[in-house]
Amino acid sequence: MSEKNSITLEQNEVILGRGLRGTTVDSSSICHIEGDKGLLCYRGYSIEELAGKVNYEDVVHLLWYGELPSPTEREAFVTKMRASRMLPNEILALLKTIPTNANPMDAIRTSISMLGALEENTPPDSFNDEVNNERALKILANLPIIVAAFHRIRTDKPIPEIRHDLNEAAHFLYLLTGKVPNPNIISTLDLLYILQAEHSFNNSTFSSRVIISSKTDLYSAITAAIGSLKGPLHGGANQGIIPMLKDIGSVDNVAPWIHDKLAKKELIMGIGHPVYKTYDPRAMLLKNVLNEFSEELENDTWIKLSNAIQQIMLEEKNLYANIDFYSAPVYHSLGIPSDLFTPIFAIARTGGWIAHAFEQIKNKSIYRPKAKYVGAPSGKKVS
Ligand SMILES: CC(C)(COP(=O)(O)OP(=O)(O)OC[C@H]1O[C@@H](n2cnc3c(N)ncnc32)[C@H](O)[C@@H]1OP(=O)(O)O)[C@@H](O)C(=O)NCCC(=O)NCCS
Repeated sequence: MSEKNSITLEQNEVILGRGLRGTTVDSSSICHIEGDKGLLCYRGYSIEELAGKVNYEDVVHLLWYGELPSPTEREAFVTKMRASRMLPNEILALLKTIPTNANPMDAIRTSISMLGALEENTPPDSFNDEVNNERALKILANLPIIVAAFHRIRTDKPIPEIRHDLNEAAHFLYLLTGKVPNPNIISTLDLLYILQAEHSFNNSTFSSRVIISSKTDLYSAITAAIGSLKGPLHGGANQGIIPMLKDIGSVDNVAPWIHDKLAKKELIMGIGHPVYKTYDPRAMLLKNVLNEFSEELENDTWIKLSNAIQQIMLEEKNLYANIDFYSAPVYHSLGIPSDLFTPIFAIARTGGWIAHAFEQIKNKSIYRPKAKYVGAPSGKKVS
């Protein structure tokens, strides 16, 4: 652990890394990561095993209930999820009051909070599995609709009618663009959803666990998680990548550009990871997708720039690209604006946030760590 991440404590005190780095705070059976091996598994299935064999809805079932659904379970789960799709009038009215130049993450954070407020008649004893399951489906089904609706409103376009015959990825793209895209595009977004669905005790997931541990409602936990994901050191990193690639402009400019930033001690977005100290397996899968897109679009600018940046960062700092580094150019190739990358990450990660909230609820203990006090000695008097 580097010095900046450690705190010196006294005898009998437990030593924790700053920001809880390297600290095991609880057990979980949802996600297994081995950062030095580039391994990521959801409930025992590696992401390489899941990718291309199941879709996002199956993965959500796996994360929430521990198993991939049987065909009958799948049918029931998907039917319930699609039946939960709606855009309440109050949320629509709220979205229309949000400035069109607002960060879409602010729009969705506010809307999920509002979704909770609309349940004003829910009795206080509603903290039970049935209610939480219903809320989970409602949040999962509504978040993509809210993202798409905000985008349609700010671009002065009508919001398409909600449909119940499309999977989550297809339905979101249809709402966003007004038409159902081709199956290749749908399966690419579905893969992005799967790869971003879960990642153990990351900042936003940990936030959702901390919040729900006070036995508050699921809306509060997901609202907090969205706020966390917005940060540039977490989900917000993917917004900086396309501007960075555009700023670099050409492969010849990669080396001087990176050296200049490193000399100024600036961070290169999409590079490095708090857990992976080798390749990020999600980035590897997306790099292949970006390769395919480059061939299909006959434009290899992004992949060439990305590969050159990765190479230099490996040589100079021994750092690897993370998922954002490749997800951003893939989203860009799909025609999605940069400021929607993080909201789409939130749509996908809602699966993981809720799985952890469900697990935390069963733990029945409220998070309450200690801080080492380093302020003025007690006994000060008001003069
Ligand atoms: C993700 C991140 C917060 C992890 O931080 P971390 O755990 O402190 O990273 P490490 O401990 O591996 O850092 C090792 C060294 O590399 C540097 N480093 C890490 N990421 C870097 C980056 N993206 N650009 C330049 N230098 C970086 C650190 O400053 C540190 O340098 P030091 O030893 O001189 O202090 C960090 O890599 C980062 O900010 N990346 C860019 C933002 C991003 O892509 N976030 C998305 C994460 S999924």
